[in-house]
Amino acid sequence: MPYEPIGYMEWAKAGTRAAVNMARSGLPGLEFSDLGLEIGLTDLRLNGEHPYGWKPLIEAIAGRYGADPGCVIPSVGTSQAIFLACAAVLSEGDAVYVEQPAYEPLRSVPRTAGGRVFRFSRSLENGFGVDPAEFAERLPEGAKLVIMSDLHNPSGVKLPPERVKELAGIAADRGADVLIDEVYLEFEAGVRPHTSFGLAENIIVISSLTKAFGLSGLRCGWVLAPRRLVPSIRRVVDNLHVEHVLPAEQISARIFPLLDGLKDRSRAWIESNTAVVREFMARTPGLRWVEPDGGIVAFPRVVARGGETEGGDRLARVLLETKDTAVVPGGFFEDFRHFRLGFGLPEDLLRLGLDNISASL
Ligand SMILES: Cc1ncc(COP(=O)(O)O)c(C=O)c1O
Repeated sequence: MPYEPIGYMEWAKAGTRAAVNMARSGLPGLEFSDLGLEIGLTDLRLNGEHPYGWKPLIEAIAGRYGADPGCVIPSVGTSQAIFLACAAVLSEGDAVYVEQPAYEPLRSVPRTAGGRVFRFSRSLENGFGVDPAEFAERLPEGAKLVIMSDLHNPSGVKLPPERVKELAGIAADRGADVLIDEVYLEFEAGVRPHTSFGLAENIIVISSLTKAFGLSGLRCGWVLAPRRLVPSIRRVVDNLHVEHVLPAEQISARIFPLLDGLKDRSRAWIESNTAVVREFMARTPGLRWVEPDGGIVAFPRVVARGGETEGGDRLARVLLETKDTAVVPGGFFEDFRHFRLGFGLPEDLLRLGLDNISASL
């Protein structure tokens, strides 16, 4: 298989050492001591029966998202879930229809799986939503898979369930499945997330505990798939490994009952940081944005002066070089006018970062 370099992944893994890091999209990582979980190493089993996932973990995931346990395939983060879904659904030459802008693996992994990638647009002008008429018109003949994120990375915008159903219906009429990356969904206000799984027969959902809970290191991810796709996804799992890491699965299962409490803990802080950014955007004429529906990222555009089309990337470069401040250059999301602004940092640093943006503009 021809594995493409994933520029964003290389950049993100190199790590930013900036004093003000506004490049992050997930909550700061928790430690075990933050969880109040009474669990010792000897409480965990090192070996056991878990051929396609530890049963209590599968049940915990199924319970939280209202899915049949038979539709749950645990994975190593959402990252592996993207791979599992693409490899299971796609064959060489199949057309794939991917949102633009997109998190880079959502457009590169389907190519690795043999797909020919076509795009539909989610732009500042349409509120980072999806226009069903345009979506239908540009949906390529014979498409096997539609791929999008919800909340959308990079904008943080939520697709209303009626819109998801409408898009899934259009895809179903052409014989395509719809893969929805919900890794940011748990940022949505209100305790229980509104997953799109089950809204239509052709929807596959992927997610993990990474972003909204600060639990990236557990690598607890999953695919929620219609039953007809479960055997082909398991076949991909069989090609990757015999079994998952059992202690991590057991710890993850024990953490599921704590998730609502973890969300409660971060909600006020996220709301107050969002208010700081809202106020900043209102007094900064050099930027335009769509306020995110949840989460800690937004995708502002640097308002063009004299035909400037690379304002977002230039701002990111100037910020890093002169203000020791990192944001994600929009080029990683295929639009150099924008930058991804992460605002999940302590308020004093957030205010400093926003001041640095003002000064650099
Ligand atoms: C849309 C999207 N999907 C998946 C991932 C990776 O998630 P995980 O850490 O669960 O592998 C990211 C990380 O930035 C992301 O933005």
